[in-house]
Amino acid sequence: MRRLTLLLLAPLLLPACGPKGEGTFAPGEIWPDNNGVHINAHGGGILIADDTYYWFGEHKTEGTAGNSAQVGVHCYSSKDLYQWKDEGIALAVVTDDTTHSITKGCILERPKVIYNRKNNQYVMWFHLEPKGAGYSGAMSGIAVADRPAGPYVFLKAIRPNAGAWPLNVQDIHRTTTPVDGSQTFSGGNLPTHPDSLNLLGRDMPGGQMARDMNLFVDDDGTAYHIYASEENSTLHISQLDEDYTGCSGRYARFFVNRFMEAPVMFKHEGNYYLIMSGCTGWAPNAGRSAVASSIWGPWEELENPFRGEEAELSFRSQSTYVLPLPGAPGRFMYMGDRWTPNDAIDGRYIWLPLRMEGKQPVIEWNNRTNG
Ligand code: GAL
Repeated sequence: MRRLTLLLLAPLLLPACGPKGEGTFAPGEIWPDNNGVHINAHGGGILIADDTYYWFGEHKTEGTAGNSAQVGVHCYSSKDLYQWKDEGIALAVVTDDTTHSITKGCILERPKVIYNRKNNQYVMWFHLEPKGAGYSGAMSGIAVADRPAGPYVFLKAIRPNAGAWPLNVQDIHRTTTPVDGSQTFSGGNLPTHPDSLNLLGRDMPGGQMARDMNLFVDDDGTAYHIYASEENSTLHISQLDEDYTGCSGRYARFFVNRFMEAPVMFKHEGNYYLIMSGCTGWAPNAGRSAVASSIWGPWEELENPFRGEEAELSFRSQSTYVLPLPGAPGRFMYMGDRWTPNDAIDGRYIWLPLRMEGKQPVIEWNNRTNG
């Protein structure tokens, strides 16, 4: 791990360089892989395995059709976070069965991979919307592999925590009438839901809605699924089972009616942190952050972690991952997406150092091009 650590420090000392030079990266520019092709791994995350970084993300295609999954989850590997080797498609959409959960044309977003040391398995979770139903499915897909880069085998699609009340359930959820099925929600920028709209109770039997999501593995090996639920209005933090392939039924709801999206969790000096966005679809908005000394809360909302010009737009990005740099405590890489929904494949990556100012995560722009 030491060799990796030394290599790692370079990107943070020289956070942004010319897009064409070797060992360089400029946030928001084309980022060529080892074949000279713009990296295609949107809404991504990082797995560290065998002294190598693996970057998994949504493979997008041209035009607006590229916003749904035409190919699958793309994987790249790197030793230094600058230069990325194309490892191919880690999880492919299914092309010969239109009824399959991950049939071509479904929506497959924000894939994340974690390693389960108990059974030596790599586990991928992603936000899944069955083909042809817009964003109404709000499901989670799960796939596994015995090698970091895959290929991953699709296991199942679920709505999390069916039949389980959250740890912090309120009486109102058990007693009020669930909203009726004809009630519709746009999912974004809504006026807050009155408590009488019992979305949690409505979804108890079949499982909770899960859209934007992330995974987090704690130091003790316990893994968590963090997802935007209840029509995006409320964030759920949910403990996974021992295999990491299902829910333990232990979960809690936070930031009620704050419409948090794009959640990212990391840990620093014993505290848990969340970076999140507001809920405005592909359009950027101001970032959000929060801290808790226990993963089960209470969570204290902090400030917008972005500082400077365009901070109110998160530098035109939306969070997707925060990478704690191995061997460099307190140093993190913020990873965000600059979406281009009219030509999905052209989406750009905004990776910037994230530092702590006391308990406040801070991300500042850096566009040096000749470092
Ligand atoms: C964003 C979300 C993306 C995608 C998009 C669709 O808010 O973070 O992952 O779902 O909405 O409009």
